[in-house]
Amino acid sequence: MQDLKIRLVKNKKELEKVFKIRMTVFVDEQKVPPELELDEFDILSKAKHVIALYKGKPAGAARIRFPGNKAKLERLALLKKYRGNGFGKMIIEYMVKYCKKKNPKEILLHSQCYAEKFYRKCGFIPRGKIFLDAGIRHIEMYLKS
Ligand SMILES: CC(C)(COP(=O)(O)OP(=O)(O)OC[C@H]1O[C@@H](n2cnc3c(N)ncnc32)[C@H](O)[C@@H]1OP(=O)(O)O)[C@@H](O)C(=O)NCCC(=O)NCCS
Repeated sequence: MQDLKIRLVKNKKELEKVFKIRMTVFVDEQKVPPELELDEFDILSKAKHVIALYKGKPAGAARIRFPGNKAKLERLALLKKYRGNGFGKMIIEYMVKYCKKKNPKEILLHSQCYAEKFYRKCGFIPRGKIFLDAGIRHIEMYLKS
């Protein structure tokens, strides 16, 4: 979709837009406690933050971290009205392409169980046991190389 632009966050003003999307999706919609949503990695120097703009308007967000030479995709969220158009998959593809340039040992994520099929469609495979994070059931998934 040409109208969707996905790129890294450049400054604090854009990072605020990312936080607004995450608050709407995770806190307001999914009832994650607000004190758990933002953490120590939510500054420009500690993670690569991603923003997706639809016709110039903030539509989606995510972040990437590189713990222990691995790449971890986190906090993927699209505002409700932009879902179901392939945008989530496009954001994952953008992040995977970005990560591969850094040559990580692997690319992984913690999927909410309800989203497992979505991540499978993006090439990820579940492993290990289901666990709770912020009261929500999750499963670890890694990208098949
Ligand atoms: C999960 C989320 C990012 C998916 O984004 P999206 O733009 O709606 O998904 P896409 O349109 O790119 O879907 C890609 C494929 O996955 C499928 N898919 C998407 N969500 C799905 C779901 N919940 N269950 C099963 N399949 C799903 C789509 O049908 C599509 O399949 P296709 O390629 O065969 O047509 C979005 O629903 C969202 O932001 N949810 C709220 C936040 C959240 O839960 N984030 C995940 C945290 S782990």
